[in-house]
Amino acid sequence: MAMASLALLLQVVLTVTLLNTLETTHANVEGDALYALRRAVRDPKNVLQSWDPTLVDPCTWFHVTCDADNRVTRLDLGNAQLRGRLVPDLGKLERLQYLELYMNNLVGSIPEEIGELKSLVSLDLYHNNLTDSIPASLSKLSNLKFMRLNSNRLTGRIPRQLTKLQNLKIFDVSNNGLCGTIPTTGSFSKFTEESFRNNSRLEGPELMGFVRYDTGGCK
Ligand SMILES: *[C@@H]1O[C@H](CO)[C@@H](O)[C@H](O)[C@H]1NC(C)=O
Ligand SMILES: *[C@@H]1O[C@H](CO)[C@@H](O)[C@H](O)[C@H]1NC(C)=O
Repeated sequence: MAMASLALLLQVVLTVTLLNTLETTHANVEGDALYALRRAVRDPKNVLQSWDPTLVDPCTWFHVTCDADNRVTRLDLGNAQLRGRLVPDLGKLERLQYLELYMNNLVGSIPEEIGELKSLVSLDLYHNNLTDSIPASLSKLSNLKFMRLNSNRLTGRIPRQLTKLQNLKIFDVSNNGLCGTIPTTGSFSKFTEESFRNNSRLEGPELMGFVRYDTGGCK
């Protein structure tokens, strides 16, 4: 009898432990993704000090907001003096709506995995030192309303696929090194030249009869 109860108790303890482990593993995907960002940047103002990867989820970390299911919906790190790179792991934040990393000193390219953020409403990366081209994968962000990439060092063409972002209200790529022509169809029909100014090699709106569709010397 005592043996039987002991066996039962053992079984209960094992089951509870296993369930706990599964919960933690799930929640930590998002904590780990954010922690990868912490490791990739220098943080002279210690704004990421509360980012403790041993916690069950990142919902108590400063500058992180979660929904009722403890999934990350906002990252608010504008003007935080962060120096370093964006990490592809950010693409794992499935419910992220606001990615606010403007006015830091971020370098390197925009990871194409950012295009996996299906819930994203606002992508604010303006005033950094980001390089390389704008990933065409951003055209998968069907909920996006605000894309501000101005004042970086982005090069290459504006991916024409971005014109299919129907909810896009604000698009700003001014003050970069973009080239090629400016798309004018789809959501791009409502953007003014303010969105594109100060890109010395960007040649003007296409389909206006003034510029050829794809001119050379742009990569
Ligand atoms: C970009 O880099 C330059 C020189 O490396 C630096 O002077 C400038 O402050 C940086 N811009 C931002 C927004 O961090
Ligand atoms: C044009 O954009 C470049 C690259 O971001 C920037 O360094 C420069 O200050 C901008 N010029 C003006 C007049 O805004």
